[in-house]
Amino acid sequence: MSELYSASRPVSKNRPNPGALRYLWQERRTSTMAIDQSGVWRFRDLLPIVPDERIVTLREGNTPLYEMPKAAAALGLNWLLAKHQGMNPTGSFKDTGMTAALSVAVASGYEWVACASTGNTSAAMAAYAARAGLRSMVLIPEGKIAWGKLSQSMDYGSTTIQLRTDFDGCVRVLGEIVQRAPVYLLNSVNPYRLEGQKTPAFEILEQCEWQVPHHIIVPGGNLANCSALGKGFAEMLHLGFIHRVPKISVIQAEGANPLYQSLRTNGGVSLEPVTANTRASAIQIGNPASWKKAVRILASTGGWCEQVSEREIALAKAEIGAEGIGCEPASAVTLAGLKKLVASGRVGKEETAILLLTGHTLKDSEYTIKYHRGELLTEAEMMGASAEELALHASLRHEPIVLDAEADAVLRAIDAQMQSALPA
Ligand code: F0G
Repeated sequence: MSELYSASRPVSKNRPNPGALRYLWQERRTSTMAIDQSGVWRFRDLLPIVPDERIVTLREGNTPLYEMPKAAAALGLNWLLAKHQGMNPTGSFKDTGMTAALSVAVASGYEWVACASTGNTSAAMAAYAARAGLRSMVLIPEGKIAWGKLSQSMDYGSTTIQLRTDFDGCVRVLGEIVQRAPVYLLNSVNPYRLEGQKTPAFEILEQCEWQVPHHIIVPGGNLANCSALGKGFAEMLHLGFIHRVPKISVIQAEGANPLYQSLRTNGGVSLEPVTANTRASAIQIGNPASWKKAVRILASTGGWCEQVSEREIALAKAEIGAEGIGCEPASAVTLAGLKKLVASGRVGKEETAILLLTGHTLKDSEYTIKYHRGELLTEAEMMGASAEELALHASLRHEPIVLDAEADAVLRAIDAQMQSALPA
C-alpha cells in the first residue's frame, strides 16, 4: 500500500492521489508479473484483502470495450459501447470475483470450496480452485445449465453434482452443507467476490478516459453484479477520481423477474420469489440473494429495472452477434432492455450507454444454433411480433447450408446470397 502515498502530489495524508494511481494501474499492464497483468489485481491498492503471495490469478480482467455501431444506429443513439466480460479466462465476468474470493479461501487455509450455480460461477470456481490446488464442489440444477458451462467444471476437475431441482433449490442445499462441513462458500453472497467484481467499473472509467458514462446496463440474476459495479463507481467517487456516478440499470428476463415485480408492486420494500423460467439459463433465478443491494444501487444511482421477453432476448442476442461480438443469452437482455429505456426516453440520444456483456457466445452454442435454425422460439412467442421485427429476425438468421461436395454447388449458394441484401 505504501506506493499509494509515494506520488509527488498527495491529495491529503489519508487519501491516495488519483493521478498517481491512474498512472500506476496503467503502468502495471506492461509488467511481467502475473498480479500486475491481472485486470483485477493491478487495482490491488483498492483490494486490501490478501497478501500478494496468496493471490490466485488467471490474468482475468482487462476486457475490451467495444463500439456497437449497428445497434447504436438502429436505436438512434450517437454511440453505444459494450464491455465484454465474456472475454475473461473462463468466458464470463465471474472470473473477476472468483480470483478475489478464491485467493481468500487459500489464505484462510480451506481445502474445499463450493458454490451453487447456473453454470458460470461453477466454471470460474472450478478453474481457480484447480490453479490453487483446492478441491471444489459445484451444485448445479440438472438439465438447466448450458453444456459449455457444464463441460468446464468437469474439465477443471471439480466434483460436479447435478441436483434434481432449480438454482434456488441448489442454494438451499448448499446453505445446509456449509453449516455441516468445513467448505468455503463461493456464491456471490461472499463479500470478496464483490470486491473483485467491482474492478470492471475502474476499467470502464479508464477506457472512457475518466469521462463518466451516463448509463451502465446490467443483466440481473442473483443481483450481486449490479451492486459490485455500483460499489466500484462509488469508491471512485469517494476517492475523488470522478464527480458523479453512472446510472446503473438492471434487466431481467420476463420469466425470472422477481426484482422487476417487487419494484412495480411495492417499490422494492419486499420481494416475492417466483418460479423462474427462461432460456437465458444464467439468470433463471427466482429468489435472488442480493435483491436488497440491487434496490439500493438502483435508487442511489437513479437507474431502472426492466424486463424483456424471450423473443426480445433472442433478437438482441442475434444483433450482438451481427456486430461480430456475440454473447450468451443472459448478456443479451442488456440490449433488449436498452431498447425499452430508449423508447421510454430514459436513455437519451446524446448519452453514453455501456452494455455489460457478462458471458461469451460459446457458453451456450445450442441456443444460438437453435435460433438460427428457427427452432428456438415457439409460434406463440412469435405472435405479437411486428412485421418490422419479423423482417429483422429473418435478416439476422443464418441457417447453415448443407450441400454436396462440389464447387459448383457452393458457387451457386454464394450467387444466391449475392442476390440478397448484405448481412444485417
Ligand atoms: N450474466 C451471466 C452470464 C451470469 O452467469 C449471471 C449469473 C448473471 C448475468 C447475473 O449476475 O447473479 O450477479 O445478477 N450467474 C450466476 C452463476 C448466478 O451461478 O453463474 P448476478
